[in-house]
Amino acid sequence: MPTLLVTGAAGIVGTALRPFLRQRYTLRLLDRKPVEGLVSGESALVGDLTDPAFVQQAVEGVDGIVHLACAHGTDIAFQSTVEPNYHATLYLLEAAQRFGVKRFVFASSHHVLGQYRSDQAEYFDDMPVAPDSYYALSKVFGEATCTTFSLRSDLATFIVRIGNADAKVSDARRLRMWTSARDLAQLLLIGLEHPAVRNEIVYGVSESPNPLFHNRRARELGYAPQDNAGEHLADNFLPYEAMAPVGSGRDHVGGAYAGVPLASVLERV
Ligand SMILES: NC(=O)c1ccc[n+]([C@@H]2O[C@H](COP(=O)([O-])OP(=O)(O)OC[C@H]3O[C@@H](n4cnc5c(N)ncnc54)[C@H](O)[C@@H]3O)[C@@H](O)[C@H]2O)c1
Repeated sequence: MPTLLVTGAAGIVGTALRPFLRQRYTLRLLDRKPVEGLVSGESALVGDLTDPAFVQQAVEGVDGIVHLACAHGTDIAFQSTVEPNYHATLYLLEAAQRFGVKRFVFASSHHVLGQYRSDQAEYFDDMPVAPDSYYALSKVFGEATCTTFSLRSDLATFIVRIGNADAKVSDARRLRMWTSARDLAQLLLIGLEHPAVRNEIVYGVSESPNPLFHNRRARELGYAPQDNAGEHLADNFLPYEAMAPVGSGRDHVGGAYAGVPLASVLERV
């Protein structure tokens, strides 16, 4: 079996994806936290992606990379994103190029479009980016860097703007962009294996009664979601009318992120 490096493997998304990915790959599971519950075909690598020597050791010998690790938060300061999101992504891409890795899947986010009001377009897929936070801005950097590396080398890159990957759908905003783990895994496998992939941007979303993203490119590549967000509502699901008009972010693609002031870079010292 080919070997796949999964960064941020101890997190919510990595943990949910493992059972699907290990059916096709030997998994090298990287995180700075211990990765629990290893089974046959999985190994763990504990360390920090901000260490370039560690990144090279992690990347050597793998066939593909799924890059999930990142620092995030509604009010994260710009400087807190620089090492884990900018430098670490560059280290990984450069190492991937150096060691002849074939595929690089980058976990981006719907937050790269998060500053839009949800009534500004019918579908947001092709809108210019409008990041809603320094977290989202770092995803824009990651996407752009994937494109540059894919055009300068044989590395094929696949950017997945994930909607919401919680186990259940918690409110009306997330209903429009939720993904099940099995649908996200199906999409990632397209990114890792479809021969037409060179550099793509797709949306990590299941079916929805009222989608924000059309996801045309993913469907062209054969993505056929098995789940519908409308059938996975949490017990305490909040319909639109029950969400606060201010603070809940119900009217923005990025939700509450879009209303939180950006931490000052002028006053950081
Ligand atoms: N969960 C969602 O709904 C959602 C939505 C949109 C996008 N995403 C994206 O998917 C990815 C995974 O999200 P998640 O919800 O699993 O996040 P998470 O916070 O649960 O997991 C991230 C993991 O990355 C690890 N990590 C962070 N920085 C690291 C570093 N420098 N070196 C090594 N490990 C490091 C953390 O220890 C953590 O285990 C992220 O890139 C996130 O932006 C997630």
